[in-house]
Amino acid sequence: MKPILPGSAIGVLGSGQLGRMFAIAARRMGYRVHTLSPDEDTPTGQVADLEINAPYEDLDAIAKFASGVSVVTFEFENVPAATAAAAERCAPVRPAGHILHTTQHRLREKAFLSKAGLPITPFRRVASLAELSQAAAELGLPAILKTADFGYDGKGQHRILSARDFEPAWSTVAQRESVLEALVDFEREISVVAARGSNGEFIHYGAIENQHSHGILHVSLAPARVADSLVAQAVDIAQTVLEKLAVVGVLCVEFFVTKDGDLLINELAPRPHNSGHFTFDANVTSQFEQQLRAVCGLPLGSPRQLSAAAMVNLLGDIWTNAEPNWVAATAVPNVKLHLYGKLSPRPGRKMGHITALSPTVNQALEDAKRAFQAL
Ligand SMILES: Nc1ncnc2c1ncn2[C@@H]1O[C@H](COP(=O)(O)OP(=O)(O)O)[C@@H](O)[C@H]1O
Ligand SMILES: [Mg+2]
Repeated sequence: MKPILPGSAIGVLGSGQLGRMFAIAARRMGYRVHTLSPDEDTPTGQVADLEINAPYEDLDAIAKFASGVSVVTFEFENVPAATAAAAERCAPVRPAGHILHTTQHRLREKAFLSKAGLPITPFRRVASLAELSQAAAELGLPAILKTADFGYDGKGQHRILSARDFEPAWSTVAQRESVLEALVDFEREISVVAARGSNGEFIHYGAIENQHSHGILHVSLAPARVADSLVAQAVDIAQTVLEKLAVVGVLCVEFFVTKDGDLLINELAPRPHNSGHFTFDANVTSQFEQQLRAVCGLPLGSPRQLSAAAMVNLLGDIWTNAEPNWVAATAVPNVKLHLYGKLSPRPGRKMGHITALSPTVNQALEDAKRAFQAL
């Protein structure tokens, strides 16, 4: 494949913070960025060369958008399959539409993973209230019911502790096709962010340790505080996933580490991931630049981490009383502030993040927490 060179335009489907950081990386290397989403004045649009407002279902707009760029990538994986197909008729789409199709639906994703022989949490498909109670009897409780598609940041999920939770859980998933998973009593959560180039080249950022609060990522630490052998296993699994899916781009594998020290895959995200945001500040090549390089057919950059890092998400919740105290937070000199340009802070909405760079990961966590408290 002929590389897509600086000066070319890259199309991004979706317009959130992932697209914004991708656009910053792309513009830094002299590319132009076009973004398409239904929204206006978006995090990506604010830093892109061109922001197009159209619904993902408007296939004429998608075709026009794709015709105007050298390659289409995405930052939002719930783009309908027909949208990816329409774009694919006019420009290469990387990662390919079939990868979106697999990973945007929990049942298809789990089918792919189990066929590949990779470890996943025990689960059952649920399509009715009766099936939910049957699945709960088979898996045992506690368990967690998740919509098969369109879930993110813990949305569309309901924990089930007893039969009393069946009805509320079924209404949380809006009576749609769902997955019941055994609740994993994990020791910790980790993720591996990796990239694969068009020639099969593979890089990864090691294991990242993640702490969630109410289903939303709160803190990521890199490197994860786990044994090297576990990192090697997790990276191995990630490599298998990227190769079997023939990913050209970035993909993240989220894992549970069980109390016995085993790895279970929680889910996949076929794009840069919140847990990899630290790479923007701490690594030779960020996950966003890596996505750019991969989709353009350029050699991948060094993923080498230059400093231990801790990232804390800034959710809309911290705006509740007043604008956060940016001056106080920026007074911690080894902390970097990122804001996504979102206009309305809402509880649970990802508005920005901070990354602390320190000699050790424990120190980074302390520094990030200090800056976070100061907000
Ligand atoms: N089966 C499970 N067992 C224990 N915790 C879970 C399970 N599924 C999800 N969680 C918790 O909820 C978080 C969000 O769930 P996830 O499936 O990753 O959904 P999302 O697509 O919203 O990120 C996980 O990172 C984890 O902390
Ligand atoms: Mg997740």
